[in-house]
Amino acid sequence: MEKIISLEKVAKSFGKLKVLKDVDLSLGRGEILGLLGPSGAGKSTVINVTLGVEKADAGTAYVFGEVMPQRQLLGKMGYMAQSDALYESLTARANLKFFAEMHGISKEGLDEEINRVAEVVSLGKALDQYVFGFSGGMKRRLSLAIALLGNPLLLVLDEPTVGIDPALRRQIWAELHKMKEEGHAILVTTHVMDEAELVDRVALLMGGHVIANDAPKKLEAQYGVPSIEDVFLKAEEELS
Ligand SMILES: Nc1ncnc2c1ncn2[C@@H]1O[C@H](COP(=O)(O)OP(=O)(O)OP(=O)(O)O)[C@@H](O)[C@H]1O
Ligand SMILES: [Mg+2]
Repeated sequence: MEKIISLEKVAKSFGKLKVLKDVDLSLGRGEILGLLGPSGAGKSTVINVTLGVEKADAGTAYVFGEVMPQRQLLGKMGYMAQSDALYESLTARANLKFFAEMHGISKEGLDEEINRVAEVVSLGKALDQYVFGFSGGMKRRLSLAIALLGNPLLLVLDEPTVGIDPALRRQIWAELHKMKEEGHAILVTTHVMDEAELVDRVALLMGGHVIANDAPKKLEAQYGVPSIEDVFLKAEEELS
């Protein structure tokens, strides 16, 4: 399998706090990897190190075989941060245009592309509204639409479905599965345990390590429990 993301023995501390001790992780084409772990386990830190936003203290993170950040790779990836980074004084459409330009997406066909990604997150009707009037869920959806711009080969989504209603959540997951079938690679963190059943592989981050890394059904069998939620709880119990 072609490796899109590869983390090798990554360690990262903030002051005395050792967040990541020895993290190995990989993501290939046509794969959805769910990164799970308790709040504060370091999921966002894994993403930040992967994207080169934070520098690892030890080990290396590769994206498309390169150490990030690499400007020329931006166009091949879509990133949705845990906290929305949007221009509140602009409309949703203007936000999408701005980020499309930043990612070097060509102006030709951009209007259609904006409509396409807005439809995926059901924001089509709100495109010309100002973001300052958006609800939290609408902002989340706009952030996701921005990450989808240009149909990038790699998607990195940090808690993409927070504040999003069940029906739309399903629609978003259907889109992610479609992209996976087309050969995209998707890294997603979530707190919604039933979403963790929808990924190809769950990486469980606890105590600074990836303590389990397998298909949801395999993890459930390994832990002898019926759901990923139970795997999570049992792993937490075993660690404490
Ligand atoms: N820039 C930073 N400076 C200092 N501490 C940080 C920084 N970034 C993260 N941390 C700390 O590192 C730990 C892991 O944070 P991180 O945001 O990666 O966790 P998380 O697993 O994403 O949590 P959540 O599920 O709540 O989003 C936390 O204790 C956090 O306070
Ligand atoms: Mg986080």
